Amino acid sequence: MNAPVFVDLAPATASFEAEVLAGLTARPRALSPKWFYDALGSKLFEAITLLPEYYPTRTELALFDAHADAIGAAAGRGRVLLELGSGAGEKVRRLLPALAPSAYIAVDVSRDALQAATAGLSAERPDLPVYALCQDFAAGLSLPPQMPTGARLVFYPGSSIGNFAPDDAVRLLAPLARSGDALLIGVDLVKAPATLVAAYDDPTGVTAAFDLNLLARINRELHADFDLRRWRHVAVWNDAARRIEMHLEAQATQTVTVAGHVFAFEAGERIHTESSYKYDPAGFVALAARAGWRHRGTWTDVDSAFAELLFVA
Ligand code: AVJ
Repeated sequence: MNAPVFVDLAPATASFEAEVLAGLTARPRALSPKWFYDALGSKLFEAITLLPEYYPTRTELALFDAHADAIGAAAGRGRVLLELGSGAGEKVRRLLPALAPSAYIAVDVSRDALQAATAGLSAERPDLPVYALCQDFAAGLSLPPQMPTGARLVFYPGSSIGNFAPDDAVRLLAPLARSGDALLIGVDLVKAPATLVAAYDDPTGVTAAFDLNLLARINRELHADFDLRRWRHVAVWNDAARRIEMHLEAQATQTVTVAGHVFAFEAGERIHTESSYKYDPAGFVALAARAGWRHRGTWTDVDSAFAELLFVA
């Protein structure tokens, strides 16, 4: 019997409420994308990864299938594998044979996804010590004392680093650079705007549902009354900032009550819900250098859509 060690440091409802009230009061109005991932939001993200338009997940999985042994040889076997934003745990499975970690620590802000993924992995790999840490690491990761120490491979796939503005990405990655540690990180690359917009505004409406679910979550958890039929999902490419932006746009002038606070929205007014920064490999290597990480390897697909980068501290 090898059940995951589960440590729950999930953000309290009070901090969700405080951030939502602050974000709806700010100009421009903005909500953090980390709040997308309640139980339904995590499932909707998994559905996004199956969309033909959403190339990042399948491209990254193909990179792991093609290059797992080379990645393992370059990263070093037997490390403590620390995955940030582990989600459904689909990616790490492909790398375990090649990385042969001494232990696996999964960190995710979504308690449901984390519990399901780590329980499944433990059942499949009874030999592997598995640790699950539910935590919002956006402002910095803090590992509780019961987690294994030892040389780490920090694994941050999916281009989730793209949710941080470059300076914030440096602030997140710098404290992770302990001497001797390694970092394997997935980065989505700049490409034709039409390709990027289609990936974030699919014709099936799955990404729209994922975005709108944030308002539904606020209704469910914070006693709010957003009328989802009066909001629309918008995805735009911001060329100057090199990022995809997702917004929720009010379709009519309206007032909404959230936890006893009344907010007035004009028709056409937007709430910024996500930025997804895109890089070229050299640009990301330069960003990582500012955080104390030295480049060791790059794996990319034939279309240069997505890159997996390896660094050492
Ligand atoms: C999980 C943050 C990598 O930015 O591409 C997918 C989230 N948002 N479609 C991304 C997302 C809309 C995704 N990350």
